Amino acid sequence: MKKETSKAVRGSKLLGSALIFALCYVLFILFIVLMIFINNPAPGEWQRYFTDDFSRFLSMCICTLLLFYIVYYYYYFENKEFLMSASNVFLVFTLLTLSVFICYLLGRFVSVFARPMALLALLALFLFNRRQAIILNFVFSLLLFVIDTYTDFYALSNVAGVAQTEAYFSLMFGFVCGTFAILTAGSVKTRGGMLLLGTFISIPTVIIILLLQLPVGADSWIAYVTEAGFGILGCFLSTALCLCLLPFFEFAFNCLTVFRLRELTSANMPLIKRLRTEAPGTFNHSLIVAQLAETCAIALGENAELARAAAYYHDVGKLKQPQCFTENQSGYNVHDELTPELSADIIRSHARDGYDLLKAARLPKEVADVAREHHGTLPIKYFYDKAMRISGGDANIRDYSYLGPTPHSKIAAIIMIADAAEAAARTIPERTPENVERVVRSIIEERMDLDQFVDCDITMRELTTIKATIVEALSGVHHHRVKYPSIRFNRAREAVEVPEEGEDE
Ligand SMILES: [Fe+2]
Ligand SMILES: [Fe+2]
Repeated sequence: MKKETSKAVRGSKLLGSALIFALCYVLFILFIVLMIFINNPAPGEWQRYFTDDFSRFLSMCICTLLLFYIVYYYYYFENKEFLMSASNVFLVFTLLTLSVFICYLLGRFVSVFARPMALLALLALFLFNRRQAIILNFVFSLLLFVIDTYTDFYALSNVAGVAQTEAYFSLMFGFVCGTFAILTAGSVKTRGGMLLLGTFISIPTVIIILLLQLPVGADSWIAYVTEAGFGILGCFLSTALCLCLLPFFEFAFNCLTVFRLRELTSANMPLIKRLRTEAPGTFNHSLIVAQLAETCAIALGENAELARAAAYYHDVGKLKQPQCFTENQSGYNVHDELTPELSADIIRSHARDGYDLLKAARLPKEVADVAREHHGTLPIKYFYDKAMRISGGDANIRDYSYLGPTPHSKIAAIIMIADAAEAAARTIPERTPENVERVVRSIIEERMDLDQFVDCDITMRELTTIKATIVEALSGVHHHRVKYPSIRFNRAREAVEVPEEGEDE
């Protein structure tokens, strides 16, 4: 029954997304009409475009519809979850429309070579991923080619020597420059690196401009240089516009980008500031968990920035009552005066409180989900044991367990393991690699026994990699230093014998 209901919900969501796609298509056609008006501004001229040969407009609408259909079908088979969110559909549509519109305006009023042809590719890369960026860039190149061809863009844009047949230029230019940008921008992690990227994209751009101009033949070498200059300007416009527009998309659609994830882990973020001052123990614990999670994410080929940011915020729910958690206590333990049931309730609520706090602060959903899922449905052993002792064995394990849900992503699973491993490592008297390995293995095995990984597609091989990575990292963090000699120097720089202090760890 429950399965049928969820199937019906998914079906209605997919139908909703198809309707939103249809609506976006209608809006896109209205934008094309606006572009036709911009291209034929003289009185009565733009109406003549429709009355002279309406079939041109009709062909353009059908070609555009087919391209929109390809985008819908791509997501339908590749990523249904993405498609079921209306905001995702609007985001894809906005990116395509905005990029086409900006390229059309710059091509019309500045130069056809100054179009920011890599803009869509870069935005899609940073907002989604490489695979989606390549598909969307391909559709964008075709869209621009169709619109250029059917709106007589080249015939009217007064480009010296470029005939209408050279509309293929937009196809070649968009596809090559966009794909080149996607492949080279993968390693860009800073906003400064984005500007440097403009230089890299300029290389294929200038080559294409010169190659396409050779058969047509420009008037002089000055014309070649001017066109190449406009091409370079277009590349820098792509990266600069991408930098300007990304914060808008990040805010309006609550998207994750590598830049936003880096900003989230900055010491100036309000929740991080609060964590540092109101719950310093939790803050230090989160820093170590972040280090472990980031290393594990790199080992698994997952998003390391997301792992680090999610780990920073995983225990932010403890801000509600920081003194109730061991790492923030110094001597006095509030739980000595509470019933085990109430204590367990306070402890387990930090996962849900964190989720609510992060949602209220408009942090990305992926980060908030980790806060809710990082303890899954695990029992709170200390208070369950206390309740069993007090009640003489009459305690329900459900009253002493976290409310879940269990991790739904590999990042959440990594943080679940890293969180427990970091806490457990503090209690190991002899932190040798063998002892740390035994503890981490038992943590993973216990979570497997309790079905904590059934909702995420993590494999045994990946769990083994996580174990090995955490053992190596924790053994490194808690390495033993050499014993210092028991001497101290006084002001006169004379050595003084002091009693033994023990080893520094
Ligand atoms: Fe926690
Ligand atoms: Fe934690």
